[in-house]
Amino acid sequence: MCGIVGYIGERRAYPILIKGLQRLEYRGYDSAGVALLNHDLTIYKKKGKVSEIADKEELLENVANLGIGHTRWATHGVPNEINAHPHASGSRKIALVHNGIIENYAEIKKELLEKGHTFLGQTDTEVLVHLIEDIKDTEGVDLATAVRLALNEVRGTYAIVVVSKDDPDTLVAAKKGSPLAIGLADGEFFVSSDATPIVEYTKEIVYLEMNKIAVLAKGQALKIVSLDDLEQEIISKTVDISEEALEKGGYDHFMLKEIFEQPKAIRNSMAGRIDGTTITFPELDEVKERLLNAKRIIFTSCGTAWHACLVAEHLFEDFAKIPAEVDYASEFRYRNPIINKDDVVVTISQSGETADTLAAVEIAKQSGALVLSICNVVGSSIPRHSDATIYTYAGPEISVASTKAFSTQLTTVSLLALFIAQEKKTIEKSELEKMVLELVSMPEKVEKVLETKDEVKRIAEKYSYAEDAIYLGRNYNFPIALEGAIKLKEISYIHAEGYPAAEMKHGPIALIDDQMPVIMINPMGQLYEKTVSNMQEVKARGGRLITIVSENDEIASALSEDVIRIPESSEFASTILATIPLQLLSYYMAILKGRDVDKPRNLAKSVTVE
Ligand code: BG6
Repeated sequence: MCGIVGYIGERRAYPILIKGLQRLEYRGYDSAGVALLNHDLTIYKKKGKVSEIADKEELLENVANLGIGHTRWATHGVPNEINAHPHASGSRKIALVHNGIIENYAEIKKELLEKGHTFLGQTDTEVLVHLIEDIKDTEGVDLATAVRLALNEVRGTYAIVVVSKDDPDTLVAAKKGSPLAIGLADGEFFVSSDATPIVEYTKEIVYLEMNKIAVLAKGQALKIVSLDDLEQEIISKTVDISEEALEKGGYDHFMLKEIFEQPKAIRNSMAGRIDGTTITFPELDEVKERLLNAKRIIFTSCGTAWHACLVAEHLFEDFAKIPAEVDYASEFRYRNPIINKDDVVVTISQSGETADTLAAVEIAKQSGALVLSICNVVGSSIPRHSDATIYTYAGPEISVASTKAFSTQLTTVSLLALFIAQEKKTIEKSELEKMVLELVSMPEKVEKVLETKDEVKRIAEKYSYAEDAIYLGRNYNFPIALEGAIKLKEISYIHAEGYPAAEMKHGPIALIDDQMPVIMINPMGQLYEKTVSNMQEVKARGGRLITIVSENDEIASALSEDVIRIPESSEFASTILATIPLQLLSYYMAILKGRDVDKPRNLAKSVTVE
């Protein structure tokens, strides 16, 4: 999730672009850049924050009143100056900024290389600007037409803004899947990923729809066409909300925004990896043999990511048939673990900077094991020190409590375990296909779970008196019970414990009374009836059962004081669905307790010290 801006009008573009990018910096801060068009096309970009390209003497003197800008959240290609946007075409006459992922960029790149194009970086975006120029030159068309024809060839998501030396009075923007807003003012246009940078200039905003291209020409009205060149009606809105609120997309907190971004984040984490029911991980090509022949897989991480490791342990033994074990990275790094060369160590980390997990990577590397990392921040330390990395593409996660990063971690480890099963043929093909399609259906099912928010809010109000809570689950959902408990602890400061439901009678059952909320995770699955017996043990001690059940459940829900229903799914996939109401419950409990949800006390988004 990057931030993109554009301006065309009578004012100097540079200061407007820089201010806009500073407003959008919450979307990504790996690198920043601008392109200014005033007869010549000046491109200036740097690794790091927007401050790296702000207040540049030579740019402050540039009188260009047409330009584009970008603040990056790296997906393809590590954060550096080469991979920073704007990207230029071969002749350096066209420049483009992009937010999204071009899924078929490798194919297009191959064709353009055969035509003699040369590429400077590793990004998917650079391929698109070369394609636009290629079409412009071969078809002899203007910029808007070249952009439209090029976009008919790409698969994936994008919001782009493009400028061309040969079209000095035009800015072209387009959208598919990534947000794009256009500000209408007298004799000028403002373009941005959201209205935050625009509302100080104009409140009249056009939100570009899917598969549409906007042509913003000096002295002319805004023109919008479809991919097949049909002119579209211009529908603008008056946007009158604070910039701070806009950054949160209208949500009160980044945490709630990120909870509601999960359908998209999960879709992104699978993008380009599933073709029909066949799974591909091109980033594993070089290490595939070692991965498939692993004698043992050791998962190690911290915090919420460690819970994803516990789910992965089930998945890899269940589907990939590889012995798996899990360790806290902070323990792993000092317990002198026995690691062999034919072991694979998998670390999971949202930030890629957690010190204990990074140390675990070093230890694993020294032992000669293959080190694979699953991470959300491209180019961060852990990926840089690993043999291979799978990125989760959740986008920047601002709130300290991890939500969308966790559900994309669950999606990614599920996909990886099924990939190994596919390659090693450890499960029936028809079974495998069913499970791949189940994952593909997750974004939609998560949308449905998010509709339970009001019910979850009601339950939070009912139990907001609580000072303690117990979370119980079995098998795949024991780690989800742990995740529910950590979420409540992290942001509401209510003491909470997660336990395997059957383990409860060996201790925690002593805590149960008619004040203790017991959050039970019991969707349909292998241990449904066994878990119902555990629920009866809680009920027998007067415990107050709040149960997450499958939508058509009858038995467990009849035993419970409150239920939250999630769509039917197989057990492994229910981990993703059951996590969502637990995130919402902790969020509403924290709100009721008046906590600082996005910046809870004593916690940091990434602990880079031991
Ligand atoms: C903590 C965060 O500091 O680190 C948690 O507050 C997170 O949300 C944990 O799960 C591990 O971080 P990472 O970035 O390695 O996944």
